[in-house]
Amino acid sequence: MINETKNVFSLSTNSTTYLFHVNATGHLEHLYYGPRLSLAAGDLDALREKHHLNIGTGTAYDADNETLFLENLCREESTEGKGDYRIPMVSIAYGNGKRTMDFVYKGHAIIPGKPKMSDGGAQSYGTTNECSTLRVDLGDKILPITLSLYYTTFDACDVIVRKTTIGNDTDEAVRIEGLASLQLDLFDAQWEFTTFGGAWARERIKETRPLCYGTMINESRSGVSSAEHNPLIFLSRPHAGEDTGEVVGCNLIYSGNHRESVEVSPYGKTRLISGINPDRFRWNLESKSSFTSPEAVLTYSASGFNRASTNFHMFVNNHIIRGIWKYRERPILLNSWEASYFHFTEESLVKLAKQASALGVELFVLDDGWFGSRNDDTTSLGDWNVNPYKFPSGLSSLAQKIHNLGMMFGLWVEPEMVNKESQLYLSHPDWMIAIEERNPSVGRHQYVLDITRSEVQDYLFDHLSEVFVQCDVNYVKWDMNRVFSDIDSANRDIKDIGEFPHRYVLSLYQLLGKFITAFPNVLFEGCASGGNRFDLGMLCYFKQIWTSDNTDAYCRLAIQEGTSYGYPLSSIGAHVSDCPNHQTLRVTSLDSRFNVACFGVLGYELDITTLGKEEKQQIADQIAFFKQFRSVFQYGTFCRIRHDNVIQWVSVSQDRGTMLVLWFQTLNPANASNDVLFVPQADEQAVYDVFPRQQRIPLSLFGSLIKQTSVLKSRSEKTQKLVAETISLPGEIEHYTVSGSVLKYAGIKLNQQFSGTGFDDETRVLGDFGSRLYIIRKR
Ligand code: GLA
Repeated sequence: MINETKNVFSLSTNSTTYLFHVNATGHLEHLYYGPRLSLAAGDLDALREKHHLNIGTGTAYDADNETLFLENLCREESTEGKGDYRIPMVSIAYGNGKRTMDFVYKGHAIIPGKPKMSDGGAQSYGTTNECSTLRVDLGDKILPITLSLYYTTFDACDVIVRKTTIGNDTDEAVRIEGLASLQLDLFDAQWEFTTFGGAWARERIKETRPLCYGTMINESRSGVSSAEHNPLIFLSRPHAGEDTGEVVGCNLIYSGNHRESVEVSPYGKTRLISGINPDRFRWNLESKSSFTSPEAVLTYSASGFNRASTNFHMFVNNHIIRGIWKYRERPILLNSWEASYFHFTEESLVKLAKQASALGVELFVLDDGWFGSRNDDTTSLGDWNVNPYKFPSGLSSLAQKIHNLGMMFGLWVEPEMVNKESQLYLSHPDWMIAIEERNPSVGRHQYVLDITRSEVQDYLFDHLSEVFVQCDVNYVKWDMNRVFSDIDSANRDIKDIGEFPHRYVLSLYQLLGKFITAFPNVLFEGCASGGNRFDLGMLCYFKQIWTSDNTDAYCRLAIQEGTSYGYPLSSIGAHVSDCPNHQTLRVTSLDSRFNVACFGVLGYELDITTLGKEEKQQIADQIAFFKQFRSVFQYGTFCRIRHDNVIQWVSVSQDRGTMLVLWFQTLNPANASNDVLFVPQADEQAVYDVFPRQQRIPLSLFGSLIKQTSVLKSRSEKTQKLVAETISLPGEIEHYTVSGSVLKYAGIKLNQQFSGTGFDDETRVLGDFGSRLYIIRKR
C-alpha cells in the first residue's frame, strides 16, 4: 500500500514500512525502513534529521541553505557536484563533460499494480491486488533532464522493487556514466555485509564481514552476473542469525555486470547502491529519449535471514517465474553429461533412458555432443545440425523413443557461442565478438557471438527452433560456458562500445523472449558452466538454473545453502552423480547425495546402467520418496537451521503439516555425545511423529571390520568382499511421538552413532558425510 500526505511518502507491505519525504529544498530525504509503523501526526518531525548548525569543512547546499549538507543526509537518490561526496546513484556527463546535477521533486503518481515498461529489461510483474507503484518525478534544477524513481510494493512478500528512469529533454545527447537501480541510505553503520561469491564449482558461498569506514564493493565485470560475485547481498545487524535480528536483503533483476557498493560515510551513515556496474558502462542518451535501469529488489526482516529468504522465495515464485511452469513441480531428470560426456550413440542413450524410466525418472536430457561433429569441446558450437554419425536416423528418432517410454525429452544447447572449428565460423567469421587487429582471448576453445546483431539472433532462433520442433522437445538446457573479452561490435547501431555489455544483456533477453513465446510449454533451464549466471534476470525466462557443475554432496551443502538465501528451491538444479565425485574425487554415500539433492530440482547424472541391483533399488526408492514429498521440497518454506559440523535444513509444507529435515554430518567426531534434533519451525501446540527416511547401510562401509562378525570370520577374503559389496543392512529404527514444544525448545536426543564398540538395530551409522532425512508429520 502506498500513501502520500503532505509530501511524505509511506510505502507499506504486510510487515514493513518505507518512508521518505520532500524536504524544504525539494530533495528526497529517506526517513525509515523497518517494521511496519502506524503513523501519527507529528511523526515527521521526529523522523527527519535536524540541521541547524554549520559543519567545518563541509560543502553546504547553497548560500541560502548554509546548514544543509547533502553529504550528511539520508537520501533517495544522489548525483555529483552539490557536496555529497559519497558514491552517487546517478552520474551524467553533459556539455563539455560537466557532471554536476541537482534533482529536486516535481511531482508523483500512485499507480495500481505495476506498469510494464518497454525498455527491454527483465521485469517482475504483479496484479493490482498484489502490488502498487509509486513514481516520483524529479527534475534537474537547470537542465530539462528528468529522473523518475519507481517503487513497487509487493505486500504479501514484504518486497519493494525499485528502478530509475532518466529522460533527456535537452537538444543534445548526454552521456550516462552510471545509473543505479537502488539507493538505500541508512542512518547508522552498525551493520554487517553478506555476499555470495566464489568461482566455478564453488558458487555463491556466503561470506559476512562488519562494515567499517569507507566502501566495500561486490561487483562483476566479466559480462555476466557471475559465480564470483552474485548480485544478492544482505545488510544485517551484528549477531543477527537465521531467526533473529534485523536483516535487509537486496538483489538485482539483471544478468550482466553489476555493482553493489556499501559505503560508510564520515558521519557514520551507510549508503547501499545497487545496479549496473558503472565501471563497464556508458550510455549515450539522445535528445528526447530515456533510459531505464534494471529493477532492484529490496526486503526487510525483523527476524533474521530465514524470513528475508522466505520473502525472496515468495517474490520469485509469484512475481518473477511466469508461464505454465509457475508453481509446477519440476520433472525428475536424468542428464547424459556425467553419464557419457561426448561419447554416446542412439543405442547407448536409449539403454540409459530405458533404465531411467524403469527407476521412475520423468525427463531424459541429452547434454552436449549431439550436433555438428562435436566429439570434444574444441569444435562445432554454432552448427546446430544433428550429428549424422551419432544419429543416423536423426535426433527425432531418439526423441520418439524417449517419448514412447513415457518420458519428456530435453536437449542441451549453447546458442551464444561459436568454435572457430565450425561451419558457422567459416561462413560468418565476423559474427564473433573480437577486435579485428587483436588476437582474441579464448575460453574453453570458444568465442561469444554478437547477438546484438539481428541476423545472428535470426540464425540462432531459426536453426534451434527447427530442432526443437522436429524433436518435440519438452525441455531445453541453455548453457553459456565462457565470459567476455576483446569487446567490439560490427553492429552499426552501436556507436559507443561502452554500451555493448548492457546491449548484449538486452539482446539476450530479447532472444530468450522469442524462444519462450514460441515454445510456451517447454521447460527452459539456465546454465553457465554451472552457476555463472544464476540471477533474477535469467529466472524471468528460465524456470530453473543448473546451480553448479560441482555435484559433490559435501560441497553442495555450501553451494545450495548460499543459493537458498535469495532463490527458491524450485529454481535450484541439484543432481545425484557418481562417486568418486568427478569434481572432487570425494566418496559419499548414494543416500547422502540424494538427501542433499532433494532440496531442489532433483536429477540424476550418472551411468545408471552400470549400477548393481541394490543401488538401482535405492534410486527407485529415492525417486518414489521424492515424488511423494516433491511439493514440500520445491514449494514449502525452506529454512536453514544449523551449519557447523552438522548442517541442518528444513522444508515445511504450505499447510505446516509436514516438515522434512536434512541432518548432514560432515566429519564423524567419534564417541561424541548424543545428537539432538531441534526444529525451531515446529508449531508448539502440535504433536508430531518423527522418523528417518529408511536408508540402508552398505556392508562395505565397515571395511575389514566385517571380518570380525561371526558368520564371516571363517570365510575366504573373496567371500567377504563379495558379501560386503552386495549386502546392505537396514538403517536404525527410530520413531518418536513428540510435542512441537519439545521439538522446538528441548530437541530429540537421537540414538547413538556407531563408534567402533558395537552395533545393533538402533545404532545410527553415519560416518563421514553421513546424513538422514527426518520426516516430521503432525498427528
Ligand atoms: C557446462 C555445463 C555442464 C555440461 C557441459 C557440457 O560445463 O555446466 O553441465 O552441460 O557444459 O559441455
